[in-house]
Amino acid sequence: MENKIHGNISIIVAIARNNAIGKDNRLLWHLSDDLKRFKKLTTGHTLIMGRNTFLSLPNGALPNRRHIVISDVKEDQFKGCEMASSIDHALQLAGESEECFVIGGGMVYAQFLSMAGKLYLTQVEERFEADTFFPEIDFAQWRAEYTDKIAAGDKNEYPHTYTEYIRI
Ligand SMILES: NC(=O)c1ccc[n+]([C@@H]2O[C@H](COP(=O)([O-])OP(=O)(O)OC[C@H]3O[C@@H](n4cnc5c(N)ncnc54)[C@H](OP(=O)(O)O)[C@@H]3O)[C@@H](O)[C@H]2O)c1
Repeated sequence: MENKIHGNISIIVAIARNNAIGKDNRLLWHLSDDLKRFKKLTTGHTLIMGRNTFLSLPNGALPNRRHIVISDVKEDQFKGCEMASSIDHALQLAGESEECFVIGGGMVYAQFLSMAGKLYLTQVEERFEADTFFPEIDFAQWRAEYTDKIAAGDKNEYPHTYTEYIRI
């Protein structure tokens, strides 16, 4: 697999203080503002995800977004999705002009982190027991462009900080 930086590949993820991102193929929190931000950022764009993350979506493919699902299972064809048999195949389908969002999960993030040009990171101010984690981020490789702190409240279970990073 090639390892160059792809300027149009962006990672979008919400991580806990211990880098936890999921358990039992579910998210660990309900953060209404984060879901709204995810929808706003990704609508009209391409999403790249692993098979487990696609299967975790309650209603299948998300409206108004192109879906590329990575899986080794050649017979599977998920409704509303293009199937990719490898990371390189997903990159080939994604092309190089449009911003493409890698939306998880742990296995797929681990393979894309070193090649993504942008990182939309939500840091949830809590630790969680989990079975899926985001890899360690080397923050020396990233420059924060924008940050926003959100308090906990009725619609957001935990305080969290949202930051957009560009690769240096
Ligand atoms: N906090 C967040 O922002 C966030 C975002 C997304 C997901 N999540 C959580 O993450 C968890 C799911 O993550 P996960 O690591 O279990 O699964 P995943 O990364 O979503 O999917 C893993 C699957 O993708 C396929 N795959 C991955 N790399 C491949 C490659 N190089 N070639 C071919 N196929 C490949 C394989 O499918 P096959 O077995 O079909 O070959 C593999 O089993 C859930 O708990 C979910 O809620 C959290």
